[in-house]
Amino acid sequence: MNNEQLVAKDLNYVWHPFTQMGVYRESKPIIIKKGRGSYLYDTNGNKYLDGYASLWVNVHGHNNKQLNRALQRQLKQIAHSTLLGSSNIPSIELAEQLVDITPQSLQKVFYSDTGSAAVEIAIKMAYQYWKNLDAIQYAKKRKFLTLHNGYHGDTLGAVSVGGIDTFHQIFEDLIFENIQITSPSLYQSTYETEETMTKAILEEIEAILQQQADEIVGFVIEPLIQGATGLFVHPHGFLKAVEQLCKQYNVLLICDEVAVGFGRTGTMFACEHEQVEPDIMCLGKAITGGYLPLAATLTSQRIYDAFLSDAHGVNTFFHGHTYTGNQLVCAVALESLKLYKQNHVIQHVQKTSKILHNHLHKLANHPHVGDIRGRGLMYGVELVADKATRQPLSIEKVESIIAECKACGLMIRNLEHVITFVPILTMSKKEIKKMVRIFTKALTTILD
Ligand SMILES: Cc1ncc(COP(=O)(O)O)c(C=O)c1O
Repeated sequence: MNNEQLVAKDLNYVWHPFTQMGVYRESKPIIIKKGRGSYLYDTNGNKYLDGYASLWVNVHGHNNKQLNRALQRQLKQIAHSTLLGSSNIPSIELAEQLVDITPQSLQKVFYSDTGSAAVEIAIKMAYQYWKNLDAIQYAKKRKFLTLHNGYHGDTLGAVSVGGIDTFHQIFEDLIFENIQITSPSLYQSTYETEETMTKAILEEIEAILQQQADEIVGFVIEPLIQGATGLFVHPHGFLKAVEQLCKQYNVLLICDEVAVGFGRTGTMFACEHEQVEPDIMCLGKAITGGYLPLAATLTSQRIYDAFLSDAHGVNTFFHGHTYTGNQLVCAVALESLKLYKQNHVIQHVQKTSKILHNHLHKLANHPHVGDIRGRGLMYGVELVADKATRQPLSIEKVESIIAECKACGLMIRNLEHVITFVPILTMSKKEIKKMVRIFTKALTTILD
C-alpha cells in the first residue's frame, strides 16, 4: 500500500486517542513506517527526531538490537501463560529487580499493562487495605487527596483521582468524589515566591488532614512534575513535606511515577530526589524501554500483609488482567534494565539535561516565551501572547509551530500552549541541541 492508500484506510477505520477526528480528517496524517535510534521514518521517506520519545516511553532508541534479541529469545520459549494460579520466569526476575531499584519501602509487585491500570489498582488496593485492617474503624475512609491538574490516566478511577476540570465535567456522573488540593506550580499561581506558595499549600493540606483524615484513604501524586497537564514542576521539598503529613495523619502516600519513573527526571525514580518512601508506587510507560505495554503497582510489605489470609476469598485482592506478567513484555523490561546499567543511562540523562536546560533558557527573553520549566529530560516551554498578562498563545499559532517543527524533521507535542520536550533518554548531546535549534527556528518562522 502506498502512502495515500494508507491515509485513506487510516481515516476510514481508525479512531485515534485524544483526537478530534473531525479535525484529524482534514490534516495530513503522518504514518510511521520504522524507527532507528533517535529517529522515526514515515511512509513518505521523511525522517523525524523523536522529541517526545513516542509518548514519553522510549529510552534506548528505536529498533535496539539488544531489546530485539531479548524479545526473540523469549519468543523461542513461550509468548504468554497466565499468572493466575501459575507463574513464569521473566515476571519473577523482573519483580525482584523492580523491588531492588525502587525505594526500600516497596516490596511487592502487582503487574498490569497500562499506567491507568496501575493507578486503578493502586486506588483499589489502598481502599481495600483499610477495610482489611479494620472495616469498622476505617469505614469512613473512601476519599483521596489529589492535586488540581493532576493526570493519572483515563479509566474512571484514574479520572476520579485526576484533576482535569474538563474530564470531571464530562464524566461527572460516573466518577467518585475526592478532595482536590491546589497544584504547587508557581507560574500558574498568584504567589510571588515558591516559599510562600509552598507554605500556603502545605497548610491547606494539613488543615484538611486535621479535620478529615478519618475519611482519607491516601494522597495520589505525580512526584516532582505534573506531566500530562502542562509539565508543572513542584518546588523542592514539597513531596517530602507531603510524605511527612501522610505519615503523621495515617494516610497512604501513592506516588504515580508512570511518566517520571525510569530516569526521566535525572534519577531512576523521581522519589529519589527527596528520599521519599511511598506506600504505593505506580510504574508504566518507560518500564520496557518503550517497546511493549507493561505497568506495575508496587506496595509495601505492610499493605501486602493486610491482604493475607489462610482462607480463600478472605481479604483477597479481586483484581487481575488477562495479560498480567506476560513473558515477552517482562523479558524486554529485564533487558531494558540491563541496558540502563550497561550504557549508564542515568548519568547520560544528567549530562544531556544540562544541555537541554541551557539551550532552552536561551529563549527566556523571547517575547512569546512565558515560562521554561522542567527537570532531567522533561521540559515545557509555555508560550504566551503577552508576557505581562501571561495570556496563552493561540492554539492555531501553537499548532503552526508544531507543524513547522515536523516539516523541519522534529516530532514534538504540545499540551495546550505548552510545548513539551520529552526526548528519548539516550539521545546524544548533538541531537538534543538539534531539537532545540529546530524549535527555535520554528518560533521565529511562525511568530516573527
Ligand atoms: C502520571 C501518569 N499516570 C498515568 C498515566 C496513564 O498511563 P497510560 O496512558 O499508559 O494508561 C499517564 C499517561 O500519560 C501519566 O502521565
